Parts: sequence; structure tokens; C-alpha cells
Amino acid sequence: MRALLCRRPKKITVLVFLVLFLVWLFITIIEFSFGLTVTTDDLISPMKIVKARELKAFITSAYYYPTSKSLGNNALALVLSINLVKPPTSQLFSPDPTELVIMAKNETSSVQVSTPFLRYISFMSKVKNQKNDRVTPHEVCQIITVFATAQLLPNVKSIHMVGNNGMSEIPFTIPSYSKRDVVVCTSPLFVSEQWQNFLFAVHVYRRFGAHMNLYLISAVTSFYELMKEYEREGYLKIQPWVKVDFPGVSRTIADPHNQIEFRNQAASQTDCLLQFKESARFITFLDLDDVLIPKLAPTYAEEFQKLMEGKNKLAYIFYHKENYDAITTRNSSKFSLKKMFSSLECKHKRETGKIVVDPRNLNYTWIHFPPILPNGLEKYEVTENVITHLKTIIWSDKQDPSSRILIEPPYFDNSSAKIISSRGIMDIEDDLRKMIRKPRIRKIFPDLPSTHYYTDLVVKCYNDRYYRYHYSGRIGEIKCPGPQLCGFHQHPKIKCTHVDATHKPMKTLHPITYYYATNPRFTGDIGCYSH
Ligand SMILES: *[C@@H]1O[C@H](CO)[C@@H](O)[C@H](O)[C@H]1NC(C)=O
Ligand SMILES: *[C@@H]1O[C@H](CO)[C@@H](O)[C@H](O)[C@H]1NC(C)=O
Ligand SMILES: *[C@@H]1O[C@H](CO)[C@@H](O)[C@H](O)[C@H]1NC(C)=O
Ligand SMILES: *[C@@H]1O[C@H](CO)[C@@H](O)[C@H](O)[C@H]1NC(C)=O
Repeated sequence: MRALLCRRPKKITVLVFLVLFLVWLFITIIEFSFGLTVTTDDLISPMKIVKARELKAFITSAYYYPTSKSLGNNALALVLSINLVKPPTSQLFSPDPTELVIMAKNETSSVQVSTPFLRYISFMSKVKNQKNDRVTPHEVCQIITVFATAQLLPNVKSIHMVGNNGMSEIPFTIPSYSKRDVVVCTSPLFVSEQWQNFLFAVHVYRRFGAHMNLYLISAVTSFYELMKEYEREGYLKIQPWVKVDFPGVSRTIADPHNQIEFRNQAASQTDCLLQFKESARFITFLDLDDVLIPKLAPTYAEEFQKLMEGKNKLAYIFYHKENYDAITTRNSSKFSLKKMFSSLECKHKRETGKIVVDPRNLNYTWIHFPPILPNGLEKYEVTENVITHLKTIIWSDKQDPSSRILIEPPYFDNSSAKIISSRGIMDIEDDLRKMIRKPRIRKIFPDLPSTHYYTDLVVKCYNDRYYRYHYSGRIGEIKCPGPQLCGFHQHPKIKCTHVDATHKPMKTLHPITYYYATNPRFTGDIGCYSH
């Protein structure tokens, strides 16, 4: 070994001199023949490219709209998560791409378009003619959600993202065009055990005329099976929410475990907005425990219409959340929505609310509301109604099974107003009974969890690692609440169904390499994890 090591440098030195000589000869020849002078700049810039930080973009959504009232015809809308924010320790030069380049083909022709890429839009700035927009309005996380749109060709067959050294074909889907009044986009559930909360929400949405589009990462298996049955019966659509991943890329370059806000929730909400952009009259973005119940009209659509009409063009309306405690039974054989409604107790504590939009007037949104108000549009803060936020759901074994009492839960304002009528509650209870009688659901019911385990771990972890800083004003100490902020000790008896997908390594493109997942599916083989 030693001997070899000693002899090698001599050979290498000779080789290096030879290469340098050849380069010198080559440059001299070029100078001679074309009269060019090679400046130091020309020699340095290739070095810069070598040292630049690599940009990695994960495509969470790619929708192609043959027609669109707001994006134009033959439009592509993309949602990407890109490592745009430089880690504080990085010495590397940050490339600053100003556009995305897209190539599309149909059967007869092809087109290449570039769409401007605005990197540093601050939270409040209004940039004219912006097409590629940042969805995440802060830089606590290094991987940022970005929206992009461009018009392509009629009848597109293939779409490629183009780099300086090649391109990658990307999959796309045509969004739904079937008409719906209201879509509720439920933020991604993870390690969820909250089957009572689910039944409460899904029956309320059904009663007042909304379609539920629920994003799912993981849930306790029996609860997952219950949701699948409700999906079969047409109550909701379960949408797998796959993780962002860059196979083969070092975490020092792009870290999807720790550097994406929550579980890429802003991207899931924008995905839902884009998916129903041409089909829904109204879309709302709610967590499972945020239950909106119309108060001004018998249905959601009529309430939203009432709130929006007669006003200037609105990007969104914003409902506040009022916290409630609910008591429910841990024993599924005794479950009743009537009892859950009757137990609601207002805590007189308000939290940051959620929005309802006319999808023609918004292209993307962040977790609570969009980071900027599109030009010329306004927002309306709803004072006429609030979201019932099931802040604490107590799983009790004391609930009296024989109690026939029905209490109309109070509206938060201490007036005599109620959040729902007894008639509404009875309709919802009847609908629940009808579902529980179905043999497939009756079979699942006894297996639903009677204790919560992961719920407690999630609450504790988020309080310790995130909200503690958030609510005490120690904002400077906040670290990115990444998808893997909380690791969970697996419980030997509690099994989860978890999303999975196929992620492929990609050939590096400059300045941005594009990634995507295919074949999303649910599996019992992963365990109970937050993404
Ligand atoms: C392909 O795009 C071209 C250019 O817009 C258009 O004229 C042509 O009709 C398209 N072909 C098909 C098959 O739609
Ligand atoms: C649930 O309630 C039923 C009916 O009262 C009872 O037979 C069953 O043992 C209870 N299950 C649990 C887990 O407590
Ligand atoms: C959405 O994008 C389209 C296409 O770029 C643009 O014309 C429209 O103004 C955007 N809408 C909003 C509300 O920003
Ligand atoms: C209603 O009453 C509770 C206490 O009884 C109080 O904390 C709360 O501020 C009141 N809310 C309103 C809107 O008056």
C-alpha cells in the first residue's frame, strides 16, 4: 500500500502538467485562430457553477386545464416545494433563477414557455404581473412552497421541465370539471385517532351541502377503514398526501425531514384549490377539528353567497375560530352525535381562523390565508358567524347512554343564539344511525380505538417544540416545524395505515432539478409517523 501511495504522486504530477500544457496550447490556438482573448472572468464563471448550491424542486401538483375561467385556456398550474432559502451555515453561492422553463407537446406541435420566477417577494409587497408566486411568507424553513402557472397548447400530451443541461418529463392531471357547490379541503391528518371528530365533521358537511376532500398521511387502521367506508358511500374523497422526498440528495442540500413547514400543509391547501378551481363555487380550508356550521342560511352555498354579494370582488372571506370543548364516548357502541352536540361548551377563546374562497379569485393560499392579496381584490372578515373549533375532545366513559336530553349548543356571543337547531341535530343523528346500520360499518365500529395515545404525543410535542416559543413571543428561537419534528414511540398494540409512494432519483439539472412521486397508496407496513 505504502509503496503504491509513494509512487502515485509522481505519475499524477506528470499528468497534471500534461493537462495544463494541453489547455494552454488549446487556448493559445483558439486565441490565434479567432483573435479572441480569454479573460479571467471566463475562467472563473464555470467554477462558480460548480460551487453553486443545487436547487431541488418537488412537484406536489401539476394540473392542466383545457379551459379555465381564471388561468386561461390550456393552462398549467404547478405547486412546487423548492429549497430556496439558504441554510445559515452555507458558504455556497445561491443561484437565483428568474424563471421556470416548460416544454409541452401535443400530437402536432410543441411549445417552450418560460414563466417568471419571483424569488424574494416579501410578505406584504404587491408585485405587478407576478406569475410565479411564493406561497410561504416567511423564511423559517428552507424549503418554500411556490405556485407557478403558464399557458401551453391545446390537447397537451406531454410536459417537460427544462434545464440548461437537459429536461425531465413530469406527470400531470386534468382537474375535475363536475359542478359542486362547496368543497371542504381538510388539512392532512397524521397518526389520527379522532374518529368521533371525523363523524361529527363528515355528517355536518353532508347535512349542509359540502363535499369533503380529506388529505391523509396516516391514521389508526380501524379509523382509516371507517373513512374508506364513508368514501364508498360518497361522503368524502380521501386524498393520499405523499411526502416530499429527494432520493439521493444529501440533507445538507435539501432536507425534507426538517425544512418544510408542518407536513407541507400550504401545498395541500393550494392543491385542493387548484383541483376544484373549475368545479366548485366555493372552497374552504379547514382542519378536521374546525367545523363550520352555517348560521345565516340553510346551506353553506347560500351563506357564502350572502356574505360575498354586494361587496367588491373578494379574494376571500375570513371566519374566526371559537374554541369549544366536546365530550364524547370512548366506547363506539355508545356513540351518538346528538350527545356530542349537547356536550359542546364554549371556552370564550378565539384563535386564528380560516378562509372561504370563490376559486376564480385566488390561485394559491398559505395555511391560514394567502400571503398577499391579489391586485384589486379585497377580503372580508366575517362578523356574522364563527367556526366551531373542537379544541378539546374528551373521551369519557361516563356519558349516560339512556339520556334523551338534547341541548342546542350556544353560539359564543352569550346571546340566546344557538350554533345548530335541534332539528338539524336530529337529522344528523338519523344520518349517523343509517350509516352505522350498514353491515360493513357495523363490522368496523367495535374496532375503533377506545383510548387515545398518539393524540397526546402530538399535542405534547407541538407544545414543547413549537407553540411554547410561538405564544411566549420567543419567535427568534422558533425552528422550522418540519414534517419530522415529532418522532413517536410506536405503541405495540396500535397499528396505523400510512401513505406511501414511489420516489425516483433524478438526473441533476441546472439550475433546478425536478422530483415527483408516483403511485400513491396506503399501507400497513410503515407504522404511525407524521410523514
Ligand atoms: C397543437 O397545438 C397547436 C398550436 O397551438 C394547435 O394549432 C393544434 O391544433 C394542436 N393540435 C392538436 C391535435 O390539438
Ligand atoms: C361498550 O359498551 C357495551 C354496551 O354497554 C359493552 O358491552 C362493552 O363491553 C363496552 N366496551 C368497552 C370496551 O368498554
Ligand atoms: C391567477 O393566475 C392567472 C394567470 O396568471 C392571472 O391572470 C390571475 O389574475 C391570477 N388570479 C389571481 C387572483 O391572482
Ligand atoms: C360571555 O361570557 C363569558 C363568561 O361568562 C365571558 O368570558 C365572555 O367574554 C363573554 N363573551 C362575550 C362575547 O360577551
